[in-house]
Amino acid sequence: MTGAAGFIGSQLAESLAADGHDVVGIDCFTDYYDVAEKERNAGALDVRRLDLAEEPLDLGGVDGVFHLAGQPGVRSFGEAFPLYVRRNVLATQRVFETCAAAGVRVVFASSSSVYGDAERYPTPEDVEPLPLSPYGITKLACEQLAYAYGRSFGLEAVGLRYFTVYGPRQRPDMFFRRVCERLLDGGEFEIYGTGAQSRSFTYVGDAIDATRAAMERGQSGETYNVGGGDEATMLEAIALLEEVSGRTLAVAHVDAARGDMARTSADITRIRDAVGWSPQTSLRDGLEAMWSWCSARVAAG
Ligand code: NAD
Ligand code: UGA
Repeated sequence: MTGAAGFIGSQLAESLAADGHDVVGIDCFTDYYDVAEKERNAGALDVRRLDLAEEPLDLGGVDGVFHLAGQPGVRSFGEAFPLYVRRNVLATQRVFETCAAAGVRVVFASSSSVYGDAERYPTPEDVEPLPLSPYGITKLACEQLAYAYGRSFGLEAVGLRYFTVYGPRQRPDMFFRRVCERLLDGGEFEIYGTGAQSRSFTYVGDAIDATRAAMERGQSGETYNVGGGDEATMLEAIALLEEVSGRTLAVAHVDAARGDMARTSADITRIRDAVGWSPQTSLRDGLEAMWSWCSARVAAG
């Protein structure tokens, strides 16, 4: 499991370990957000410090690789870009090279960001990807690398386009995490643009189930959307969290973020038909879990 100290990777690792799998975690604990938070995520897991962009990966005894390590966040223009190339494109090329040589199957994290402003909604996997952010471009490059390694070296790879994942341990740069924290400390939340942009929000537990199912039953060479059932605009999502928390959020509108998509909406027909996965958690239930986690975290200091 690469990215095992991260938001999604740590919970995927825990879920596999709970079912009796031997999980070896890899993470280099980047400082994109507080490293102490990643250390808490890693908790009792066996997470080895290794930078996939430069250090070798030993796959002896490994049956399958979940490759979730990467540099997330769509705000990726300017000086940040080299980090996206290194942590997404270069690190992934090295993981694929090693998996292909060892004949090990890999399920890897791509992103709804590859779509940009899609030509239709809900968006199926076969529309033309037109990413708007450098981040999305690096994730599309990872998909193309999987294809090339499959064609030339027989790499067994399954790509998952996660759609805005939320829930406990969500990264501190993400929308719901910031909304919860401002509801808790009474501070002002800055919304980028009008708040009319919408997302196919995906609960982390559902994303984990999809990822495990893709390892077991996903077709090699295929790419699947992993999107939550409920789509909401940011303003609707805020209203729902206000209801869940019983508090009122102070909102300020600032300029829209460059590279931000106006809408994401996942067509999940392909993954439902291929592996039998569909999201099970309503946005309200998922936000209740997220709110409980955030409140407990703040209460614990
Ligand atoms: P995260 O930042 O919490 O986790 C990623 C982890 O990868 C971090 O702990 C980081 O230290 C590690 N990492 C980065 N570069 C590395 C390297 N070179 N070597 C070893 N470890 C490295 O992010 P997340 O939200 O859990 O996302 C996991 C994956 O899913 C990422 O690839 C991300 O791009 C993708 N994704 C996330 C979302 C989402 O909504 N969270 C949506 C779409 C795609
Ligand atoms: C998220 C992840 O951060 C990416 O890593 C991932 O690849 C992407 O999902 C995906 O689905 O592919 P994003 O949808 O931008 O990206 O998720 P959030 O950071 O939670 O933002 C959601 C919306 O809220 C965006 O429109 C964003 O502009 C807005 N936002 C975010 C604000 O208005 N204010 C903030 O402080 C943060």
